[in-house]
Amino acid sequence: MAKSQLALIVLAAGMGTRMKSDLPKVMHPLAGRPMVRHLTDTVSALSPDEVVVVVGPGMEQVAEAVAPARTVVQAERLGTGHAVMQAREALADFTGDVLVLYGDTPLITRETLERMLDERHGPKDPAVVVLGFKPADPGCYGRLVVGAEGLKAIVEWKDASHDQREIPLCNSGVMVIDGKRLWSLAGRIGNDNAKGEYYLTDLVGLARHDGASCSFVLGEEEELLGVNSRAELAAAEAIVQRRLRARAMENGATLIDPPSVWFAWDTRLGRDVVVWPHVVFGPGVTVGDGVTIKGFCHFERCRIADKAEVGPYARLRPGAEIGVGAHIGNFVEVKKATVEDGAKVNHLAYVGDARVGAGANVGAGTITCNYDGFDKSFTDIGAGAFIGSNSSLVAPVRIGAGAVIGAGSVVTREVSPGALAVTRASQMELSGWADRFRDRKKAAKADTK
Ligand code: UD1
Ligand code: CA
Repeated sequence: MAKSQLALIVLAAGMGTRMKSDLPKVMHPLAGRPMVRHLTDTVSALSPDEVVVVVGPGMEQVAEAVAPARTVVQAERLGTGHAVMQAREALADFTGDVLVLYGDTPLITRETLERMLDERHGPKDPAVVVLGFKPADPGCYGRLVVGAEGLKAIVEWKDASHDQREIPLCNSGVMVIDGKRLWSLAGRIGNDNAKGEYYLTDLVGLARHDGASCSFVLGEEEELLGVNSRAELAAAEAIVQRRLRARAMENGATLIDPPSVWFAWDTRLGRDVVVWPHVVFGPGVTVGDGVTIKGFCHFERCRIADKAEVGPYARLRPGAEIGVGAHIGNFVEVKKATVEDGAKVNHLAYVGDARVGAGANVGAGTITCNYDGFDKSFTDIGAGAFIGSNSSLVAPVRIGAGAVIGAGSVVTREVSPGALAVTRASQMELSGWADRFRDRKKAAKADTK
């Protein structure tokens, strides 16, 4: 049987009042990207034919984040059923499966969605498949009322009888609906209930009334965590990080202390990478094979090639490119700079807007002076050059291949390949001066007593 077409509707019109934030709730990041993108990316693995995100007024940021997916604005928040109706025009001719997800429930897995789609195309041809779960604390979730012929209804907690409130099986909110039947059912949802809202959950009762069957699939509480507060955001982050750590180790990286390593959603580690404790990977980091990352490093939008050694305490900022076998040591910051193969920047240095040629050695305390308060300028260090400790390279400046810079130099002009440049004052010596100085000072102090 040909796979049925799939449309996704994401409900994201909620303001997220309890987040106490200027940012729409679904824009709060998990592992460095907005929650809503976690959802759309999870579903993209199922190749949806249509994606419609329902947002509230003034949520242009969400529209940008989910582009090229379509967004529709729900002007008034009249309930989940009303929110889904906003997608009606966009999906008027759609006859495949319609998956409804909540933007603030970002941890749902592809496997669970696949199970729901399988159920939808099972022998009972259910009009609606609901994802149920049995939370440790069922609280105020809607409850699934199940009979001999499957799912009979979803009752909202506020509308539920005492007995219904005892049901442990709860509604996660995730549903797959037969697109051929969705709009005729949804158009009949009313708002005569405890909250005066249009409940999407009424679809089940309406479908049953028409003689169609409905069913449910069981999900894990962990993947159905909803984010309504900063505390729940942190709990969701912890789950995402656990998954990312597990994935890194499955792919052949050693994490010596997994809980202290923080990944971004797109971190890519090669094989036999060893990560020591307390390392943070921001977005956009790629690490090659056999790289060792010692403790307390911070990385963002950078690339580390095979067999490099980085840290402890290194900071790689956007545009840092670390070559094969290169060494970046403690308290070294690299920004928008290429450190070519085998080069070493081992201690206390700032390398920004620069190239460090292959095999060059940048001594402790070296600074590329890349900014004059207005413009950024480039420092080019040739292959095999040696930059003595505590040198300032005032950009724009070029150090030729194999050149040597004497320690403590302030380099403002081009240095030819193979040359020595030293700019510090030359050393002088006055023999016996120190002793004479101390004698004079002691005598002066004695006089004043
Ligand atoms: C909903 C379910 C409930 C389920 C619970 C799971 C209904 C009627 N109830 O209740 O059975 O147990 O989720 O968390 O569906 N939204 C809009 N526009 C609206 C209303 C909501 O976009 O007009 C969005 C919200 O932003 C949110 C999602 O829909 O992402 C769920 O809305 P919410 O009000 O939290 O539903 P619950 O009352 O929690
Ligand atoms: Ca909710």
